[in-house]
Amino acid sequence: MNYRHAYHAGNFSDVVKHVVLSRLVEYLKQKDKAFRVIDTHAGIGRYDLSSTEAQKTGEWQGGISRLFDAALDAPAAALLAPYLEAVRSLNSEGGLKKYPGSPLIARHLMRKQDRLSAIELHRQDAAKLRALFAGDFQTRVIELD
Ligand SMILES: C[S@@+](CC[C@H](N)C(=O)[O-])C[C@H]1O[C@@H](n2cnc3c(N)ncnc32)[C@H](O)[C@@H]1O
Repeated sequence: MNYRHAYHAGNFSDVVKHVVLSRLVEYLKQKDKAFRVIDTHAGIGRYDLSSTEAQKTGEWQGGISRLFDAALDAPAAALLAPYLEAVRSLNSEGGLKKYPGSPLIARHLMRKQDRLSAIELHRQDAAKLRALFAGDFQTRVIELD
């Protein structure tokens, strides 16, 4: 399998997908009842936008970079708030240097009672994902097709 998401993380389609994901998680939180997010194609969970891969395509500049500091009207800001909060929490030192993948966005928005199963087929990516969530009892990383 040749596909590596590090070349594409934070691009336009990632942003659209992750905004929808964040709205779905927020919707599930309307009830106190616990839920489990099953991310079947999880990736590595956290992407360095200064990496060789991200710099090579520059795709994130047409995606999250355009949205990160954009002036939004109130309805758009409210809709995007959970997603942008997840991105900002990864960039607490200022600027836009890192981008969260779907498992990290879901995890950021989950409550104490919720759980995440993150599945990744690529051996090295699964290892990175496991390291990212090491010690997190709410998250289970599975190397699996
Ligand atoms: C588009 S990328 C991950 C994106 C991630 N969901 C996100 O939004 O941040 C797709 C990932 O799925 C993995 N993958 C591809 N086929 C798979 C399969 N059959 N089972 C599990 N993971 C798979 C790839 O290795 C890759 O890391």
